[in-house]
Amino acid sequence: MQKTIKIALDGPSGSGKSTIAKKLSKELDILYLDTGAMYRATALKALKSGIAPKDEEAVSGFINNLDLEIKYENGSQQTYLDGENVSDKIREPQVSMAASDISSLKCVRLKMVEMQRKIAAKTSCVLDGRDIGSFVLPDADYKFYITAGVEVRARRRYKELTEKGFTVDFDKLKKEIEDRDYNDSHREFSPLVKAKDAIEIDTSDLDIEGVVNAVMSYIKTR
Ligand code: DC
Repeated sequence: MQKTIKIALDGPSGSGKSTIAKKLSKELDILYLDTGAMYRATALKALKSGIAPKDEEAVSGFINNLDLEIKYENGSQQTYLDGENVSDKIREPQVSMAASDISSLKCVRLKMVEMQRKIAAKTSCVLDGRDIGSFVLPDADYKFYITAGVEVRARRRYKELTEKGFTVDFDKLKKEIEDRDYNDSHREFSPLVKAKDAIEIDTSDLDIEGVVNAVMSYIKTR
């Protein structure tokens, strides 16, 4: 049997990891799983049901029957919730904070991690998230921790959202990113951390193309 390769990309929001992951998956012709989309879809389910994302009792009531599916259509990940394609809806700014809140619940993380491991078990893949190298795939062949200063990350997210037609207040967005960073790295169960054996790359002053090339040549020489 041919050996599969697993790549873990972790880091805070706006660090560039999803852009890097998408490019790596194309270059290496392997599957890309955006694990953040799964937390976002779970948060959307809570919001639609009128459930507060931090209400563990109410969330645990639906999590085991969550109808969440990840499909690949024309090479890109599509996220389905209750049979509906919610890939765009989960990018809306109000879902971001709810996703960060709901992701602190252990019952949610256990469910997501189980799904992620099942998807990753079958094939060569690159996963991006917060806990991939430290918890989801501790035996990944390659682990990278992608980071950048908060100002740079806020500017990137601002550009991304305004290009999609959202009206955003920069200072508010920056504050939300800081709050999410705090939330994601201070939760009790499986927080955002750099895995001990991950290579850290600060993308603040780098263009993403350069980072992809550096990561690719690292992978090819090991
Ligand atoms: O990567 P993102 O911004 O789409 O992620 C949304 C939220 O989901 C993020 O604030 C934290 C959470 N998340 C997580 O806890 N673990 C992951 N592996 C991926 C995302």
